[in-house]
Amino acid sequence: MKKDAINVGIIGFGTVGTGTAEILIKKRKVFEKKLGFPIVLKNIADLDVKRDRGLKLAKGVLIKDSEKILNDPDIDIVVELIGGIHPAKEIIVKALKNGKHVVTANKALLAESGKAIFDAAAKNSAELGFEASVAGSIPIIKVIRESLIGNKINNIYGIINGTANYILTKMTEEGVKFDTVLKEAQELGYAEADPTFDIEGVDSAHKLTLMASLAFGVPLSFKKIYTEGITRITPMDIQFASEFGYKIKLLAIAKQADNEVELRVHPTMIPQDDLISSVNGVFNAIYIEGDSAGAGLYYGRGAGDLPTGSAVISDIVDIARNIKTGAVDRLFSIGMSVNPKLSLKKMEDIRTCYYLRMSVIDKPGVLSKISGILGSYNIGIRSMIQKDRKKEKAVTLVMMTHEAREKDMVMALKEINRLSIVSEKTMYLRVEGGEG
Ligand code: HSE
Repeated sequence: MKKDAINVGIIGFGTVGTGTAEILIKKRKVFEKKLGFPIVLKNIADLDVKRDRGLKLAKGVLIKDSEKILNDPDIDIVVELIGGIHPAKEIIVKALKNGKHVVTANKALLAESGKAIFDAAAKNSAELGFEASVAGSIPIIKVIRESLIGNKINNIYGIINGTANYILTKMTEEGVKFDTVLKEAQELGYAEADPTFDIEGVDSAHKLTLMASLAFGVPLSFKKIYTEGITRITPMDIQFASEFGYKIKLLAIAKQADNEVELRVHPTMIPQDDLISSVNGVFNAIYIEGDSAGAGLYYGRGAGDLPTGSAVISDIVDIARNIKTGAVDRLFSIGMSVNPKLSLKKMEDIRTCYYLRMSVIDKPGVLSKISGILGSYNIGIRSMIQKDRKKEKAVTLVMMTHEAREKDMVMALKEINRLSIVSEKTMYLRVEGGEG
């Protein structure tokens, strides 16, 4: 058995670092009682040692130099919470080489260059905890790798970016424009350092990369994920979606069928009575379907100091227990079981229903021209609304289609957009759960 206390060093004292430190400090006695040994926050390293984070730290705990943590033989677990690629990558690799176990919330790093890191963890027989990297407080990594281990997972989809969901919720509830609400969302403090990651779907794609690798055994595929954000969405589309009985959400989708995996992030129309439609504000929710467990929905706070800190703590405690019981490497992780039979489906081959919003000149024959083009690409119209724009010649034509192939839709829209009767580029959105 190792020495009594398990010592932890946190690198990065921002929002999540503060939340994690707060839980470690305030619940120290509770942990000791529940675990039978103490977990000690030995050091926190951050370049800014002046800012008041509202936490009382013992003298000498907060330091500037992260090397001190990496080289301290007493520290068992290094918690990387600085985010970004560099120097987080070098810090994690060095910690692993120095025989430390590592916990991180760094989804961008793991999704974009995770292979080197997971390989370094395996080589050094070290644990790498990353629960906090996906969906904040929701224990989704634990669900996939532990709770659902008896399942073949075929379908995962969800709202995994709180900032984008907050923006869409405000646009839906208050009819406000995208730009107006973006600033408000940033002020809430949930946005990434580069907020385009939130609104362009990149953060969701990072998180989807990790979930898909764990669930399906595909290699980390961030660069191959089709990623589209929410900046094109207008209050008008939200209103039309509602008239058809739908809501618009930024979804991350992973499906597995016939040895093919499709991975995509885009704004999606989903039926208003789907549970995910009621996930509002900064909340996240993930739907997972396993062949034994059936369907399940996991809901909670996807960001923030204490909610994400709570996920970091769960990894620290898991690792501490594994150290104590000599069971390090207990858990199945990314890269341990790659299924060589699986390939990624090309975006052009996915099949889904579509919402189309066109601006067309109102004259006889227009509708037959448009439905003719759609029909020539095997796209059938399911329902349609026409809205008059007073005092203007153009009218808005809004359609829901039957299921079609993405490539056919892209080609049909190219043809439609070239027509002289079409006055604006056609808006299109993919629809999930429409024809089921
Ligand atoms: N920027 C992320 C979000 C933070 O808004 O969900 C949590 O990963």
